[in-house]
Amino acid sequence: DARAVPRFVTPLPRPSRIDLSDGGSRTLVMAPVTQDVVGAGLGLRTPVWGFGAVGGPAGARPSWPGPTLVARSGRPVRVRWRNALPFRHLLPLDTTVHWAFSGTGRSIEHDGVPTIVHLHGGHSDAGSDGHPDAWYTPGGARGPRFTGTRPTYDNSQEAATLWYHDHTLGLTRLNVYAGLAGFYLLRDDRELSLIERGALPSGPYEVELAIQDRDLRPDGSLAFPDAPAAAPDWPGGPSVLPEFFGSVIVVNGAAWPVLDVEPRRYRLRLLNASNSRFYRLSAHGVRPVPVTQIGADGGFLDRPAALDRPLLLAPGERADLIVDFRGHEGALIDLTNDAPVPFPDGDPVAPPADRVLRFRVSLPYDRRVPEAVPPRTLRETPFRAGGAPARTRRLVLTEHMDRYDRPKPMLGTVERGMLEWMEPVTETPALHSTEIWEFYNTTDDAHPVHLHLVQFQILDRAPFTAVQDPVTGALSDIATGSRRPPGADENGPKDTVRALPGEVTRLRAVFDKPGVFVWHCHILDHEDHEMMREYEVVDDG
Ligand code: C2O
Ligand code: CU
Repeated sequence: DARAVPRFVTPLPRPSRIDLSDGGSRTLVMAPVTQDVVGAGLGLRTPVWGFGAVGGPAGARPSWPGPTLVARSGRPVRVRWRNALPFRHLLPLDTTVHWAFSGTGRSIEHDGVPTIVHLHGGHSDAGSDGHPDAWYTPGGARGPRFTGTRPTYDNSQEAATLWYHDHTLGLTRLNVYAGLAGFYLLRDDRELSLIERGALPSGPYEVELAIQDRDLRPDGSLAFPDAPAAAPDWPGGPSVLPEFFGSVIVVNGAAWPVLDVEPRRYRLRLLNASNSRFYRLSAHGVRPVPVTQIGADGGFLDRPAALDRPLLLAPGERADLIVDFRGHEGALIDLTNDAPVPFPDGDPVAPPADRVLRFRVSLPYDRRVPEAVPPRTLRETPFRAGGAPARTRRLVLTEHMDRYDRPKPMLGTVERGMLEWMEPVTETPALHSTEIWEFYNTTDDAHPVHLHLVQFQILDRAPFTAVQDPVTGALSDIATGSRRPPGADENGPKDTVRALPGEVTRLRAVFDKPGVFVWHCHILDHEDHEMMREYEVVDDG
């Protein structure tokens, strides 16, 4: 019972950091480990899967989240991801969804747990991107798109809050739930000069926060629902869920931690790494706590945006924040969450999941460190992705039932309707072209749509009406209402965008590396159940 887990007692774990800013290569291992998730001195140990650094001065035992990799724009790094996962999954496995071993005759007992790491938001070559079928197992089995275990991250992009996580076909929701995720902070000259000039809090005043929700058993172990599906011809075994929502909020692998801070400005790097839960976050003290957003998924915003509304973060999204604790000496400030479940029209969030983290302004102000004063603008010119679009693609988000009567949200094109993962590629941008992609969400829920390879510009959103073919999900007679520009929190490079129900969401991107990538919903329970498609950037010479 989540109510038995003490809140705001355990100090926030700070992931270890691995400095890759000179480029070069490192080995990280994925392996089982036990970790104190419940905390509060109860002595419970939670078996999880983590990433650890092998050898070198910054060797680290596996942890959830994994070590934060700190890299530098323009300096490629190579990471060898060693799969030392066990021959048994930590969580109930549904073999009726299309997953890594479907139709292969393989089993986890025989081959071990498959995994493939994706650098989310990374401008990676196709062969280093972590395609869902590029998985490999500790027993030596390889997926049909295997491209090796040592991807190169060329870091050919600006400073950003990236993250790495498992991306195995039909298994991502479970492998990430088990712990396979970590931060990848990319820095560039501009950011370093802002830090140098004292315009951004740094060192101990820059804190990464990976927010996730979990269910825990009384012994502290991770619980994931394993109910079967209700259909008469169900073959048995655990079933995928429409969405997983846990009642324990975990930050950096610890349930409801507390962070002791000085009464000064901090830079918080937020990541929603949850399976399905959206967060709508506010900082609540006795007096208002000023929060300013400076960055989105893939880089700085055009200018700092004072958050006069709660910060909305969908699964996969990141926010780079400056939080000002000055004048709050001695205060307790809670990061609260009021996002409906599912978002946006679901049930009100139930306690205890309405709280995420507590800041305790208890540390003395260190006068040797000057107060950071953020700049008024963050980019010389506003962020724009690409030039005149070569074409516009109209894509649909639609919901369907699978053969066992389970809700199955899907992607597809407006013209053809829903398309399964295995159907031939329908999105084929020409290399270096700019395109507009429009997502028509005909479902009742918001879906965070993520494109690999690109950092895009959100253009606008608009309500729409259309006639939908009840069998295929194809749309006709589309009528679009007035367009709304992106929020102040979205005026910067994005790789994940919230597509709200009943709306068309438009983005513009430049597709500048050839090969096969994927786009998908970042609700992991959806992504694992067909809400994912390949796309191919085509070089016609
Ligand atoms: Cu964060 Cu395709 O993933
Ligand atoms: Cu979805």
